[in-house]
Amino acid sequence: MTPAVIELDELSVAVGGRRILDRVSVRVTERRLGVIGPNGSGKSTLARVLGGLTAPTSGAVTVVGIDPARDGREARSRIGFCFADPDAQIVMPTVREDVDFSLRRSGLDRETRAARVSTALHRFGLSHLADAPAHRLSSGEKQLLALAASLVREPELLICDEPTTLLDLSNSRAMAAVLWGLTEDGDPDAPWAGQVAPALVVVSHDLDLVGECDRVLRLEDGVLVDDGAPDEVIEGYRDDMARR
Ligand SMILES: Nc1ncnc2c1ncn2[C@@H]1O[C@H](COP(=O)(O)OP(=O)(O)OP(=O)(O)O)[C@@H](O)[C@H]1O
Ligand SMILES: [Mg+2]
Repeated sequence: MTPAVIELDELSVAVGGRRILDRVSVRVTERRLGVIGPNGSGKSTLARVLGGLTAPTSGAVTVVGIDPARDGREARSRIGFCFADPDAQIVMPTVREDVDFSLRRSGLDRETRAARVSTALHRFGLSHLADAPAHRLSSGEKQLLALAASLVREPELLICDEPTTLLDLSNSRAMAAVLWGLTEDGDPDAPWAGQVAPALVVVSHDLDLVGECDRVLRLEDGVLVDDGAPDEVIEGYRDDMARR
């Protein structure tokens, strides 16, 4: 059996007596998983559970072979995040320092760290901004910085929650090219060339972006209502939305 990237067994999250995720069960072996659904349907909650930022109320969660809620340290080193708001992810004054900060607990020596940071900046087209104040970057550049800072740790899974929401069309496309490049092993021009590409979870209202995934989950009111090939799941979602 192909090893699962994600395995959920009756996952529920309740807040104040309300179930915001309701007995979600799924086994995912695909490298690129999309998650869609209306506002408030539980997508970000699911993303947070997968990354160990929110603990389930009940049910079992296994992500890249670990329980992220129980083994937070392992989760932080093996699972990366990229959120809609890149400002929230910038923690250091300059671009280079911000990427380097991700490696603070890596145990790597200073030279190896510096080399890894330079490579990451180069791959994301940020070398010329290495010493620029991180908060001054454009939204698109900040989103690339957030990705670089996450990926420099070489996670096995990268969870992206609305990675293109704040981006214009051109930067959305650039972001999509980076994300899909991440999972194309062997492409010498891919940003992640030469290293093990992470599996991806992409939560988004951008149905073109999600359409590029290998498999798509659809949530409604915390319930997994559809799961399958992107075209079919997206079409069903569009039809239901049009009917409302
Ligand atoms: N900590 C919390 N306390 C109370 N309610 C919460 C909490 N976190 C999430 N919720 C509620 O759970 C529901 C699902 O939220 P979630 O952010 O997962 O939705 P979403 O699908 O990501 O929506 P969007 O598309 O708007 O980002 C919402 O109704 C939200 O208000
Ligand atoms: Mg959300």
